[in-house]
Amino acid sequence: MTGKTVVIRGVEIHKRALDPRYQERVLDDLRTVVRAAPLISPTTPRGRKMSVRMTSAGRCGWISDRLGYRYEPVHPDGQPWPDIPESILSLWARYGCSSRMPDCCLINHYGQGARMGMHQDNDERDMSWPVVSISLGDSALFRIGNRERGGSTESIWLDSGDIAVLGGAARMLYHGIDRIEFGSSRLLSRGGRINVTLRVVD
Ligand code: SIN
Ligand code: FE2
Repeated sequence: MTGKTVVIRGVEIHKRALDPRYQERVLDDLRTVVRAAPLISPTTPRGRKMSVRMTSAGRCGWISDRLGYRYEPVHPDGQPWPDIPESILSLWARYGCSSRMPDCCLINHYGQGARMGMHQDNDERDMSWPVVSISLGDSALFRIGNRERGGSTESIWLDSGDIAVLGGAARMLYHGIDRIEFGSSRLLSRGGRINVTLRVVD
């Protein structure tokens, strides 16, 4: 594992933390997760379809629908979420923390044109733990703001194999994905990007 670490507003971005072989391994494990817990296209509480498709692994999964944003113990199809793959848990232990394991591994799939608006990760009951984010596939323009909505922002490209950690004072910063550079990576044969975030929920 190689690469430098860039810190923006307290968000640590470990560039190219995962070598191509490890990226393939994580991707294979994610394929197994997605077979058991298919990707869904969530709607926002206001009824707008999100452009990102999602699923989860772990004790609970993140859900959005007309009832709001929340964590649920089962997939909308009624099945429990699959276990978080070992290849991903070991990244949490290395970049997040080793004193406890994450409850949720949220998997976001960005196809061509997908984006994610500025938001704060605040559906967790205990926000003293970091959020660890793993990027695979096409590069994405990641925007980092402030603890309140609005104000100045800074952006950085997240490339395949990068790991970003939002911890400490940076845990509650607004962030989002403006766009992906579709086709910039060959990791996913049909293009697109996968982002995995690991979270302690309660
Ligand atoms: C998220 O904030 O949940 C996803 C961030 C990303 O896709 O890099
Ligand atoms: Fe987020």
